[in-house]
Amino acid sequence: MSLKEQINLSRLPQHVAIIMDGNGRWAQRQGEQRIFGHQHGVRAVRDTTEAAAELGIKFLTLYAFSTENWNRPKAEVDALMELLIQTILAETATLNKNNIRLLAIGDLESLPGNCHQQLREAMAATASNTRMSLVLALSYSAKWELLDAVQRISQDVKKGTLDASAINEEVFSNYLTTVGIPDPELLIRTSGEHRISNFLLWQIAYSELYFTDKLWPEFTKEDFYTALIDYQQRERRFGLVSEQLK
Ligand code: IPE
Ligand code: IPE
Ligand code: MG
Repeated sequence: MSLKEQINLSRLPQHVAIIMDGNGRWAQRQGEQRIFGHQHGVRAVRDTTEAAAELGIKFLTLYAFSTENWNRPKAEVDALMELLIQTILAETATLNKNNIRLLAIGDLESLPGNCHQQLREAMAATASNTRMSLVLALSYSAKWELLDAVQRISQDVKKGTLDASAINEEVFSNYLTTVGIPDPELLIRTSGEHRISNFLLWQIAYSELYFTDKLWPEFTKEDFYTALIDYQQRERRFGLVSEQLK
């Protein structure tokens, strides 16, 4: 049986999030510049998106650029922004063909103007697609998102449009950039690092974590299937005891 056939389609996660890491190391291992790795990472983005949509996963979130990544050498940041623009431009037609909606989370205002513009156009062009949402985390960090939510909540409480005693998990979630997106059941990180790096802290409170040593440019559909099979073998207890789940 192929890996794909081993996946139980009735127990798929609705939402898978991925920390795409290891592009720089992959490039350096072949004696190339880091940006070479980012360019090759696009192949893995394309294949993973296709694999997720084919299976019937509804949301795929990819951590593409963190708030902290702004502090990398300017040449790398500029090259990443250019790659982002080119990729969005090149892939919008494929997203439409495959009925995939593009969304973005993060401090999008901080992106260079042309980049933000390209992103907005691609999101508008794919807005009515229903098969899967591909969510790009750009200039994203969880601490930025949580503080942004707290500030907007405070303003609404001050204006009197929100009652402080009514703030519960649901209300709070509505102030996050992930509003309307269910929490990921599965979080994958490539490149062998075992950390979250300021990704979706609130949303991954009960996610299953899966780490692989594969560097992002090497990540294939088969690796994605392997992560899903691993996920499906776990018992998600949410604080209960095993017997209660039966
Ligand atoms: C992940 O690869 C992509 C981004 C953070 C933009 P890295 O660029 O972090 O690659 P490594 O981790 O240095 O190998
Ligand atoms: C996390 O990777 C951010 C993205 C994948 C976009 P980093 O390479 O920036 O994170 P650290 O430095 O390993 O924590
Ligand atoms: Mg990295």
